[in-house]
Amino acid sequence: MPMNKQQVINILINEVSVPNKEFGSAFASTNIALCKYWGKRNAELNLPMTSSLSISLGHLGACTKIGFAAGTTDQYILNNAAVSENTVFYRRLVEFLDLFRPTADTVFSVTTQTNIPVAAGLASSACGFAALVKAMQDLFAWPLSLEQLSILARLGSGSASRSFWDGFVQWDAGVREDGMDSFAYSLEQEWSELRVGLLHIDNKPKGFSSREAMQATVETSPFYKLWPQTVANALTVTKQAIIDRDFWSLGSTAEANALAMHALMLSTTPAIVYTQGATLDCMRQVWCARAEGLNLFFTQDAGPNLKLLFLSKDEAKVKELFAQVEIVAPFATITKPVECIHD
Ligand code: DP6
Repeated sequence: MPMNKQQVINILINEVSVPNKEFGSAFASTNIALCKYWGKRNAELNLPMTSSLSISLGHLGACTKIGFAAGTTDQYILNNAAVSENTVFYRRLVEFLDLFRPTADTVFSVTTQTNIPVAAGLASSACGFAALVKAMQDLFAWPLSLEQLSILARLGSGSASRSFWDGFVQWDAGVREDGMDSFAYSLEQEWSELRVGLLHIDNKPKGFSSREAMQATVETSPFYKLWPQTVANALTVTKQAIIDRDFWSLGSTAEANALAMHALMLSTTPAIVYTQGATLDCMRQVWCARAEGLNLFFTQDAGPNLKLLFLSKDEAKVKELFAQVEIVAPFATITKPVECIHD
């Protein structure tokens, strides 16, 4: 019998959680995959078909505070506004909280502040679920390792498993049915010159979630069978590129992997297209700049925005090319947003 989320949680947290304090709070950085997670071998536990590799974005992410509330329904405040109970966002949060209530009548109050656009392909669910799990650990003082917290966050959203570390992180697909070998860990590699540039093309919430999109891809793309090997190759090359500080190899592999993921979506029935005209214009600008000698690459997730990859020495040129770019130095010392100072 396949396991459900609650059974996995009961293995990790075997005593009823008793609050340790009035509220818990934590910050988690968001992460951008260089080798993408796209498709699940188990949708209930968010177990991926392949391993994936990401880079965390330092000060960009979510800060979450969780405590208890009176009343009968959980309160959820996102970026200073109450989230309505009829939204998918609210239901996803409550379903996750259901797994952790010390008693059936426990009501939670969750306040989240993000400094990235929500649901626009900027991995808001990644940092959102990671910050929530970290805040719950603060509240309940669970004696869990980061790897075990990564498993808990994965049950909320797959990419959240990678948001517990700075820098380069790998999430292993694992082979076990209960997913106990499917968690993330740090690759423990610094690359201080590396830069990620966020190109905000359209930050409106996307039409359909990455969850639905990846499921449709697995079910209907005739090319999905090529994906596991594609990612395995990309992972090998990317990890070597990180060790060798070979930026060309890292950038070109990440760009090709993102384009391959979007090609799979194009071959899904019905086709899934996150790319907009402006996205394509920016891609062409990157390709032109590269043809003229600039070491500049992009990656793209389940949304129209692009994330540029380049080295610090080219910052001025990249700004000249894209005036609106928001540049992140993933290996700089993190200054946490003020409201997370107590974390
Ligand atoms: C394109 O982690 O949002 O960003 O596990 O269903 O919540 P669920 O999916 P999610 O998918 C992320 C997809 C991606 C690639 C990646 O981050 O690896």
